[in-house]
Amino acid sequence: MQIHSAIADLRAALKNRGRIVFVPTMGNLHAGHISLMEQARAHGDTVVASIFVNRLQFGPNEDFDKYPRTFQADCDKLAAAGVDVLFAPTETDLYPEPQEYFVEPPGIQNILDGEFRPGHFRGVATVVTKLFNCVQPDAAVFGKKDYQQLMVIRNMTRQMALPIEIVGGETVRAADGLALSSRNGYLSEAERAEAPRLYRLLNGIRDAIRNGRSDYAALENEAVAALDAAGWKTDYIAIRQQRDLAPPGAGNPQLVALAASRLGTTRLIDNIEI
Ligand code: PAF
Repeated sequence: MQIHSAIADLRAALKNRGRIVFVPTMGNLHAGHISLMEQARAHGDTVVASIFVNRLQFGPNEDFDKYPRTFQADCDKLAAAGVDVLFAPTETDLYPEPQEYFVEPPGIQNILDGEFRPGHFRGVATVVTKLFNCVQPDAAVFGKKDYQQLMVIRNMTRQMALPIEIVGGETVRAADGLALSSRNGYLSEAERAEAPRLYRLLNGIRDAIRNGRSDYAALENEAVAALDAAGWKTDYIAIRQQRDLAPPGAGNPQLVALAASRLGTTRLIDNIEI
C-alpha cells in the first residue's frame, strides 16, 4: 500500500489507475470501515482510503482533541484489506492557509444531528469536497451508520454535478447489535453492556410500524422515555422519510428511524431503515 500525505504526490500516484474508488475516514478503523473498503473493491480498480481528523466538523466542546489517533494500526488494517493507496494529509497539507471558503449545505444541515451539532455538516461537506478534489475518484463509499451525512454528500454531489458515484455501505454491528463506531471505545464496561438498548429500541419502532402503527410522534416519545429511564440523555429519536429526512408525508414513503443519545459522556447515533 502506498501512503501519501502531499496532495501533489497523491495526484501523481493516481494517474492511469483505472476506476478509482474512495473511502474517506477519520482513522481509528474498525470492522465497519474495513467492510466499506471491501465494498469499494467491487466498484472499481484502485481503492483509495484517507485518514484525516477534520477539525472543521467538530464543535468547540466536542472531542477533536481526544479523538483516537491510531495511525500505525490503521495502516496495518488497510494494507491487510487490500487498499491500494492511503491519503493521510497533515493539517498543513489539507489546510495550508485558514479555510475561508466553505460548502454550505441547505436546511438539512440544521435538522436532527445538525440541530445538536451546529456547523458539523458544513465542516463535513467542505472537507469531503476538498478530499474529492485531491483524489478525483469515480466512486466514493460512505457508511449508512452516518445516515444524514450520506444524504448530505449524495445531494451535494448531485447538485454540484460532481462526476462521482456515491455508494452507501451497510452498517456493521457487534453480535449484540451495537453499531460499530470509533466512539464506542469511550464507553465504560457498564456503558458498553447498556449500549445495545439503542438498536433494540430502533428495532422495536421498525416492528411496530410494520405491524401497522402510524402514530409516529407517540412511538418516538415512548422510545425517548424508555432510553432516558435507563439513564440515557436523548437528543432525538425521529421517524423520517428516507428520501429527504423530512417527517413522513402522504403516499407511503419509505421510512428510516434515526436516533442520537448520550450514555455518560459518549454520544451514540444509529438508525434503521424500515
Ligand atoms: O464519516 C467520517 O469519518 C467523516 O465525517 C468524513 C466523511 C471522513 C469526513 O471527515
